Amino acid sequence: MQKRSSTAGAPLSKARALSLPGARRLCAVLCGLPFLATLAVSCSLDPVHRAGVKNLGTEQSNLYPPESEYHRPGEPCALCHSAAGPANSDYVLAGTVFWGPDKYERRVDQAYVRIVGPEKTKKCFVTNCNGNFYVTSEEYKNIKFPLLVSVERVNKPGGKGADDEKSIKVRRMSSHIGRDASCATCHILGLRDFGSPGQIRMFDTEGEVDAAKVPLASSCPNDLPRETLCPEDRL
Ligand code: HEC
Ligand code: HEC
Repeated sequence: MQKRSSTAGAPLSKARALSLPGARRLCAVLCGLPFLATLAVSCSLDPVHRAGVKNLGTEQSNLYPPESEYHRPGEPCALCHSAAGPANSDYVLAGTVFWGPDKYERRVDQAYVRIVGPEKTKKCFVTNCNGNFYVTSEEYKNIKFPLLVSVERVNKPGGKGADDEKSIKVRRMSSHIGRDASCATCHILGLRDFGSPGQIRMFDTEGEVDAAKVPLASSCPNDLPRETLCPEDRL
């Protein structure tokens, strides 16, 4: 299920760069041939990985625009968006922030996701209206693990009012991320037990979410103005 080591990753991405529409078909053919299982091509030959991707199921166009930045909230993005996965775009970090622990449909629009890496490298990313954020290797050059992470939602991101950038809630993960590019590798949708802390959430109960009268995006995507930079990245 894990991404291949970075040494194996380099030739894979090169193969990707050359890929033509036909390459995917070739890939599909190669993937079906077990005796080629040791060959590195830009799709997953690892049956466990492929089963993982397949288990996620098909796109749900009634819930989000398929294959867009809004799709598959809460799912392990980098399972697909990686050298071994079926998507063309690769992410070094990606996930979804929810308001509460249970409700799939209550996700946090414009949450600030702050990452601190070794050598105190700091980055901050903003979720979209479906609660998703994703980071390319261009946006986070030389990303190194382990990482510390926190999420914050303020009253009105980017607003000019006195209380607009005041926090509704901040949560910091106390353990670190050792190597996973997908938050949902650990934060598994619908699973909250000894095996997983459950979906990433701002509040521990849905009741607290109700009581806090949090700003919920009425629809997503929408045309409302949205902040894409964290306060520390605005000039
Ligand atoms: C089951 C596989 C799968 C999962 C899981 C998945 N994606 Fe995708 N995603 C795709 C495919 C396939 C596309 C089509 C474009 C491509 O190949 O990059 C796509 C497209 C996208 C695009 C548009 C990319 C572009 O170049 O236009 C974004 C952004 C994106 N996904 C983000 C995410 C995020 C964030 C998550 C997790 C919350 C996620 N995806 C989960 C397979 C997946
Ligand atoms: C290696 C597994 C793992 C990965 C990957 C992971 N988390 Fe976590 N996360 C945990 C565990 C376990 C907890 C509960 C204990 C703790 O806070 O460390 C947690 C808790 C949290 C919390 C809540 C802390 C609190 O206040 O209780 C937040 C927020 C969070 N994670 C965000 C993220 C984000 C964002 C990502 C992706 C960038 C991510 N996590 C990736 C394992 C993981």
